[in-house]
Amino acid sequence: MKRTDMSFVPYIFLMFVSVLDGLILNPEEGGQTDTSFLQQLLFEEKQLRMNLEQKVQDLNSRVASLEHHTCESTCEAKQKSVAFMAQLSASIVNPVEGHVIVFDDIITNEGAAYNNVHGIFTAPVNGTYEFSLIVSSPPNPSSYHEFHLFLMRNNVQIGYVFLDHNTQFWLRRITTATVHLKQTDEVWVQVAWVKGDHEIGGCCFHSLFGGFLIHAD
Ligand SMILES: *[C@@H]1O[C@H](CO)[C@@H](O)[C@H](O)[C@H]1NC(C)=O
Repeated sequence: MKRTDMSFVPYIFLMFVSVLDGLILNPEEGGQTDTSFLQQLLFEEKQLRMNLEQKVQDLNSRVASLEHHTCESTCEAKQKSVAFMAQLSASIVNPVEGHVIVFDDIITNEGAAYNNVHGIFTAPVNGTYEFSLIVSSPPNPSSYHEFHLFLMRNNVQIGYVFLDHNTQFWLRRITTATVHLKQTDEVWVQVAWVKGDHEIGGCCFHSLFGGFLIHAD
């Protein structure tokens, strides 16, 4: 920064030297070449340089203040790293409608915004967040079943997955949501509706809930 700001100084000096050269080498053309005239020029140059130095100083302090201001928002967001991912340690069999799925096994929980006792993520800051829900269910040949899950924000649905009719194979379903949250807003996964026997697979990364702060306001 300083190098750029001061880069014009050598040019001013060169211009000044050229003027002096002209006066010294061509005394007849220049007319007045006495010491007092040169002293006057030097004095004026010194004034000019002092003015410029003052201006550069002012500009430097303004840039520093701008840099500090910019950092206030971005640096704060950097400090608040918020990211989580948790899986089910064990399968949940026949959860009822409204049941909150508690992804108990934490893999990542930077910022500790996810609570693995209640299964609820609480936004630590206003900002834009990304969430993902991945669920699997094992086959159940003996039973017709439907199994829908909602991704919720403060009692309002922001995503869903369904695991219906899997009588022969494992199913694995995914949804994501990009949402703006206010500080203290909550996000969780709950059972939307069910029919027959149903199960959400635990262990081994069958079922995961995760999310992160994209950027704070
Ligand atoms: C977060 O958002 C709410 C609602 O828009 C606002 O009232 C509050 O001041 C914001 N908080 C911060 C820390 O910016």
